[in-house]
Amino acid sequence: MRVKLTIVMLMIASFCAYAQKFDKLAQTPPMGWNSWNKFACDVSEDLIMGMADAMVSSGMKDAGYEYVVIDDCWQVGRDENGEIIVDKERFPHGIKYLADYIHSKGLKFGIYSCAGSETCAGRPGGLGHEYQDARSYASWGVDYLKYDWCNTTTQDSRSSYTNMRDALYTAGRPIVFSICEWGGSKPWEWAKDVGHLWRTTGDILDRWDAMIGIVDKQRDLAKYAGPGHWNDPDMLEVGNGGMTNEEYKTHFSMWCMMAAPLMAGNDLANMSEETKEILTNNELIAIDQDPIGQQASCYRDNGDYEIWGRALENDEKAVCLLNRSDEEKEVQVNFTSLLKTSDNYWYTYPYNLEDYNVRDVWEQKEVKTDKSIIMVKMPPHSVKVYRFLKKK
Ligand code: GLA
Repeated sequence: MRVKLTIVMLMIASFCAYAQKFDKLAQTPPMGWNSWNKFACDVSEDLIMGMADAMVSSGMKDAGYEYVVIDDCWQVGRDENGEIIVDKERFPHGIKYLADYIHSKGLKFGIYSCAGSETCAGRPGGLGHEYQDARSYASWGVDYLKYDWCNTTTQDSRSSYTNMRDALYTAGRPIVFSICEWGGSKPWEWAKDVGHLWRTTGDILDRWDAMIGIVDKQRDLAKYAGPGHWNDPDMLEVGNGGMTNEEYKTHFSMWCMMAAPLMAGNDLANMSEETKEILTNNELIAIDQDPIGQQASCYRDNGDYEIWGRALENDEKAVCLLNRSDEEKEVQVNFTSLLKTSDNYWYTYPYNLEDYNVRDVWEQKEVKTDKSIIMVKMPPHSVKVYRFLKKK
């Protein structure tokens, strides 16, 4: 009996020693919806089910959005065995019921917890309960876990997140692991084998200056992103009312250029046509989801005017002109040099403009490139996104 027990324990120990992150997940940046930006703690079963319905009926699902994620405030305590207790008033049928509903819509289900003793909203955190919670998530059918960093006092971020990664792996259900440590310990340097995405900054706010400030902090991070491991500049604010539509177009464009996870953060059941058009722009989403996963870099910085670019599969390319200023700008666009530019070096790609069609991604039409330089008027806080498409 004792020998058998020892063998079983050794098997468990060796399995744990080989714990890793689930590979093959998040090969392109995850897309979905998260409750926090719009609803904060005001979450409930009805709300989340309504968002899953709206994700389908609005065309968001067809555009590629997949994960429906409940953020903080679904949890209220722990029972005498340490099991997490769900808020029964707000989630009367429990979390598995919700997960099953979301799965029945052909979508995936995500949840939130925190590496510390309490979440950022003061709900019970995961500290000391990692394996137990991971088993609960697996049994409920969770597909995505966002794991926050509040109330962690002296904890080491790398070992805390690695511990939760191992717990998820041991529980056995493939779960995308979203590290929400806000960039303090530079997770891009250590998290490639721990999570599938990691927040690079503090929380986004629904304001131009906050959003563009986050863009600035992504500048040197392009080399850390790729299939299965993404920089996460936080969830989208598109449609939440604090920016103009022009600014939301810029926000969405920059996230797509940066191969960012696209987690809508608005009320999907009540969105304007403009909001829907931004969030479901298929040509921008195709740039975000390009299989080579190359995050854009800033090719040129003229203060309030920048040019960002990224390589796409099949020697194609996306370029984004960004007018950050409060004034309209008229800018010169030279497609030959845009095509030939790579990260901060002009004329390094050996490509010829004749081999490409150039699409204006927001206008959804082809641009004539017979003149070598064109002048383009750009409203304040706006972008122009061009895709160089290989001629067939
Ligand atoms: C932190 C995270 C947010 C959100 C809240 C929830 O601030 O960064 O994205 O999850 O906690 O309390």
